[in-house]
Amino acid sequence: MNAERRVAVITGAASGIGAEFAHHCARLSYELYLVDRDQDGLANLRKALSHSEQKVTGWPGDLSYPSEVHQLTERINSLKRIDLLVNSAGFSLKSAFLDVDDAELQRIVAVNCTAVVALTQAACIKMKTQGSGWIINLSAIGGLLPGFVGPVYGGTKAFVYYFTLGMFHQMKRHGVYLQALSPGHTRTAIHSQEEKRAIPRSFFVKAAAVVSASWKAAEKRRPVCVPSRRHSLLLNLARIGLGRLVWRGARKIEKLMPR
Ligand SMILES: NC(=O)c1ccc[n+]([C@@H]2O[C@H](COP(=O)([O-])OP(=O)(O)OC[C@H]3O[C@@H](n4cnc5c(N)ncnc54)[C@H](OP(=O)(O)O)[C@@H]3O)[C@@H](O)[C@H]2O)c1
Repeated sequence: MNAERRVAVITGAASGIGAEFAHHCARLSYELYLVDRDQDGLANLRKALSHSEQKVTGWPGDLSYPSEVHQLTERINSLKRIDLLVNSAGFSLKSAFLDVDDAELQRIVAVNCTAVVALTQAACIKMKTQGSGWIINLSAIGGLLPGFVGPVYGGTKAFVYYFTLGMFHQMKRHGVYLQALSPGHTRTAIHSQEEKRAIPRSFFVKAAAVVSASWKAAEKRRPVCVPSRRHSLLLNLARIGLGRLVWRGARKIEKLMPR
């Protein structure tokens, strides 16, 4: 991607993979619009990026509210251009499916799926007019391995994966490319301390490695990026019918996986 005077909008920017994308884009002199519900986190990130000479704007907002997603799509419409959208805001359930209340179920679908669709649409319309742009949507390897993560979280990430691939095929003729970024365990705040203690450190990938792999895949216009070799292997084993091996391993750590 040519980074000269480019504009990036990143959701979930206050933490983890989104924050890492923000640092990466700042190093490449992107003008940044950072979205998160965590206002203190956004303020801290803006402070950390203050050395960069580019404009960094915080757009606090909770993407579980349709009105706030709508406000954000209006903001995207009003930008002079948009070269990159990263939909990183997302979360997993803290309790098992049968124990979760309706409101939380609606929230996870709203943030992990509905907001991604609305923001992707707003960005695609603008990028189509420009004839260029990239959208990176955070899926997860768990979305492609049923049983590996909780069914609702996994289902939302499977949705993002297939939605993004479908859009990739619709938009590439307009010079607009999409990527379903599908990491495995990445050491961020999405995992509880209990999970981090129980899962071997070597099992986790660093957020910086996820972003670097995603960027390289984007430069090659690849619609899917699974950042670590270990997670790719896991996925390929499942695809060639060695799913049982994967499930057996998955069941052992099931209790510790994102729901
Ligand atoms: N880490 C992994 O192992 C992993 C693996 C595969 C895919 N992913 C995906 O990668 C994305 C980023 O995750 P991460 O690991 O970087 O997690 P993270 O460190 O928790 O970052 C997610 C950010 O999104 C924000 N967010 C959550 N709900 C929001 C809402 N309703 N409105 C606006 N912002 C909201 C969070 O704010 P709060 O802190 O206030 O909640 C947080 O700042 C997620 O979509 C996740 O599903 C992560």
